Amino acid sequence: MSNYHIKHLEEYYQVYRKSLRYPEVFWGEIAEEHFVWRKLWDNVLEYDFSKPSIKWFDGAKLNITENCIDRHLRIRGDKTAILFEPNNPDEEAQHITYNQLSERVNQFANVLKNQGIKKGDRVCIYLPMIPELAISLLACARIGAIHSVVFAGFSSTALATRIQDASCKMVITSDGSYRGKKTIDLKGIVDEAVDQCESIETVLVAKRIQSDIRMKDGRDKWLQPLLDEASTICEPEIMDAEDPLFILYTSGSTGSPKGMVHTTGGYMVNTAYTFKNVFNYKENDVYWCTADIGWITGHSYIVYGPLANGATTVMFEGVPTYPDYGRFWEVVEKHKITQFYTAPTAIRALAKESLDFVDKYDLSSLKVLGTVGEPINEEAWHWYNDNIGKKKCPIVDTWWQTETGGMMISPIPFATPTKPTYATLPLPGVQLALMDENGQEIKGNQVDGRLCVKFPWPSMARTIWGNHQRYKETYFSAYKNMYFTGDGALRDEVGYYRITGRVDDVIIVSGHNLGTAPIEDAINEHPAVAESAIVGYPHDVKGNALYGYVILKEIGEGRNHDNLRKEINQIITEHIGPIAKLDKIQFTVGLPKTRSGKIMRRILRKIAHNEMDNLGDISTLLNPEVVASIIDERL
Ligand code: WT7
Repeated sequence: MSNYHIKHLEEYYQVYRKSLRYPEVFWGEIAEEHFVWRKLWDNVLEYDFSKPSIKWFDGAKLNITENCIDRHLRIRGDKTAILFEPNNPDEEAQHITYNQLSERVNQFANVLKNQGIKKGDRVCIYLPMIPELAISLLACARIGAIHSVVFAGFSSTALATRIQDASCKMVITSDGSYRGKKTIDLKGIVDEAVDQCESIETVLVAKRIQSDIRMKDGRDKWLQPLLDEASTICEPEIMDAEDPLFILYTSGSTGSPKGMVHTTGGYMVNTAYTFKNVFNYKENDVYWCTADIGWITGHSYIVYGPLANGATTVMFEGVPTYPDYGRFWEVVEKHKITQFYTAPTAIRALAKESLDFVDKYDLSSLKVLGTVGEPINEEAWHWYNDNIGKKKCPIVDTWWQTETGGMMISPIPFATPTKPTYATLPLPGVQLALMDENGQEIKGNQVDGRLCVKFPWPSMARTIWGNHQRYKETYFSAYKNMYFTGDGALRDEVGYYRITGRVDDVIIVSGHNLGTAPIEDAINEHPAVAESAIVGYPHDVKGNALYGYVILKEIGEGRNHDNLRKEINQIITEHIGPIAKLDKIQFTVGLPKTRSGKIMRRILRKIAHNEMDNLGDISTLLNPEVVASIIDERL
């Protein structure tokens, strides 16, 4: 028998040791006992990190929607699967039962088929947080199409890049979306994007804001009439465990976004197992993750992980500040939320406001609180623990990545004692290493280094869509036979891990992963800009904010620095989205460069952090004299 649900610390250590010694037995038992397979695997694991090639449960056959939906119908058909809480608190919440979810997913799957989508085709999903979003993911999975969800805050250019990269045949979108007081013209953004994408044959449009939009003949179709005609029965496509389930893009230090490819069997087992344990999920709980399904957190811990456990999962369309700063807590009271999972940036933003917004509501249903996406600072941790959890809800600080598919380091509530700012211990099956700059593993406790993983885990991304070489270079080349995370971490005296942040050129702003290169590319398109460099600097709500150093060619007539700053942020919004806007823009005469012409971001970072006395050796620079000017011009 597997220890599917860990209940105390001793058991955690036992299970963890077993997962190290006998990883295949460990994962094989969990997979066999807790999931529905049409055929079992030939091998639990085959891998070679030097290629890299990773296969979990190879030879097995399944459909993930049978695990997330069909198998629950007999025992919990009338239980709420998805609880939809709209943007506007006056609009009624929707309880979608497992029976209803089954009908809606099957209908949607038939619509996809009727529109010519087949197993292996890529479908781009660009939707707000409405039930159709979760349903469309599952509908793709039902017929074996590969979904590629693009967060609906990305611009048309960013959307087009992602559609083209995966040659998607279809986009699923809506007429528009609500965001607090605002409405957003999503269909307009899709039109701009799809004009540049030859692979798109069909655009399916859900109605959300009832706006008057242009429908292009032959290409654009309203979703609802097609659903109304479709049968509620769609036999699941039987997939191989290693068939791709989805692509999800994440930023890298350089170049275009990386389409991380996740496959079916291992992803399902890993996300379901971690969901159960990390949230201590019980049958009648009402679980709420506030992330957007456009990010991996939503894929794994709003849709697949919870539904594979037969859970009730909340989908929230709104924002934490609308109609006021109490919205999260109002929803917790209203739906008697038991597990609440959010990002440090949201906690910090709400902690700045009056406690009256919290104290108005009854939060006594809460049992476990979670955080994800960036390091949580001590102050925010305590605010969350004291005011939301009332010191009785363990906080699970979960470290993981788009690439890892599921959680990797986290306390297990009621088993692992928590420690503020520490993600604590690796979950079962996760073998970590801290590495030094010479490629040596740093053993022992009270050390820090670069965080790597030494052994495969079932939900790891298998490749980058269309670019396996880049996958190898990015993750498997820094250290031999190891997956490199891009993060730094320290291990304390009892073996707890604390993530110290990115060690590459990825900057996490409000929990969003941003690469510097695409932002710089966007800025450099401005006619007045010669060159630019972006670094992060600490920000009390966003964690990090972006600081841009910009060299101008010539300002151009009728422009001044202030309107240039606006125009630069406008270009960034068009190319990437408002999340990548710069907080500070310094116009500068030069950028510090190495003799080989590489920008020395370390120096720029120090200046942006206001740590000028500690710049290190600048004498080896190509142009050491610019450093003094940059300090002089500092904002
Ligand atoms: C990066 C991955 C995984 C869901 C959301 C982000 C940072 C993530 C934590 C945490 C400190 C964290 C890391 C990681 N990160 N969780 N609990 N403590 N840092 O996914 O966009 O792929 O970003 O987020 O730097 O590498 P992502």
